[in-house]
Formats: sequence, C-alpha cells, structure tokens
Amino acid sequence: MKIFLDTAAVDELKKGLEWGLVDGVTTNPSLIAKEGKPYREALKEVLAIVPGPVSCEVLATEAGAMVEEAKVLADLGTNVVIKVPFTPEGLKATRTLHGLGIPVNVTLVFSPNQALLAAKAGAAYVSPFVGRLDDIGHDGMELVAQILEMFANYGFETEVIAASVRHPDHVKQAAMMGCHIATVPFKVLQACFKHPLTDIGLENFLADIKKAGIRW
Ligand code: E4P
Repeated sequence: MKIFLDTAAVDELKKGLEWGLVDGVTTNPSLIAKEGKPYREALKEVLAIVPGPVSCEVLATEAGAMVEEAKVLADLGTNVVIKVPFTPEGLKATRTLHGLGIPVNVTLVFSPNQALLAAKAGAAYVSPFVGRLDDIGHDGMELVAQILEMFANYGFETEVIAASVRHPDHVKQAAMMGCHIATVPFKVLQACFKHPLTDIGLENFLADIKKAGIRW
C-alpha cells in the first residue's frame, strides 16, 4: 500500500521523506491555511520537495473555473494531481481534465455511488473520508471495502485513497483490505512506529550492552 502524507507542513514532509515513507501527498485548503502562506506558494514548496504525486485542490466551485485553476496548478510541477470536490460541477471538470491528461483526485467521497460516478468521470483517485464517517457513527472503513469491491468488479483503474485517517488502525485496516493508498496525518504516521515492547526490548538490549561492557 502506498502511504501519502496528509499535510502541507514542510518540516513533516522532510521527516517523512528521510524515513523513505512518503509515496505522495494530499493537501486541501484547510491544511494550506494552517501554514499561513499564500495558497500557490505553499503548494510550490510541497511540490519542490516531494517526488511523488501531490494533490492540489481547486478553490472554484464552477466547472469552467475549476478547469482554469487546474491548468494553472498543473503548471506548478510534473507531479501535480488536481483535487476536486465531489459535486456535479466537480465531475464535469474531472471529465474535461481527464481528457487533457491531467490526473484528478475526487475528494469528499462519502458513499459507494459517489465513488462509482467519480471513476466513470475519469478520476485517477477517489478519496473516501473514513474518519468523518466514523465521527457520525458510520463505519468509514466499510465504505472503503465497498468501493474496492465495486472497482474490482469492473476493472476500474481509479485508485482508492483512504482519507480522513485518524489512527493507526485505519492504516492497518486499509492495508488488510488491499486499499491502494492511505493518506495519513504526520502524527498518525509517527503512531504507526510505536509499540511498547519495541521500546522495552531496546532498553533491555542497551542495558545489557552497558552491563557487559560490550564494544563494537
Ligand atoms: C485528504 O485528502 C483529506 O483532505 C483529509 O484526509 C481530510 O481529513 P480530515 O477529515 O481529518 O480533515
């Protein structure tokens, strides 16, 4: 499973890249707003340091304007993926951008039928939001499983990004069901490293090295 970082924070991206764990990045206007930089400047910084695909969201809501913004964003780097919200206008823009050879990530997907329509419109990626579904008492990961099954039935090439990931168990479940990608906040990636027995085991090894005076 590919791991994308769900952040526009350059320090987090640099750490993830040093670990060799960043296959791509997703951003959205809320994540960019946290960085306190002009929208396109923040995206350019991310695009410059990440070799993999970077989802850059349009701000417009009308298809023609989305396509115009997408063309400007696509010129920022060869790794740009255009993110559009799941709306009728968003799907219209997806169809046009697909025709222009510009990859699209359809975001804010909350049902299998939305994912199906996005795939039929030519989306390269769909992003079901698992955490936000869990928040309202639904089962976000069940949605991911349903979309994967639906796409497999018809051989869609659209990749599924498990998004709105809140904890390591979402990552585990996504990997176990064969999801193509999980986009994870940096703190969730850090949490995936953690196991108390790893920490205790290392402490014990270090104590024994000291006690026995072992040298390299
Ligand atoms: C990613 O593409 C989404 O924008 C992101 O995962 C949303 O996460 P949130 O529900 O934590 O805002």
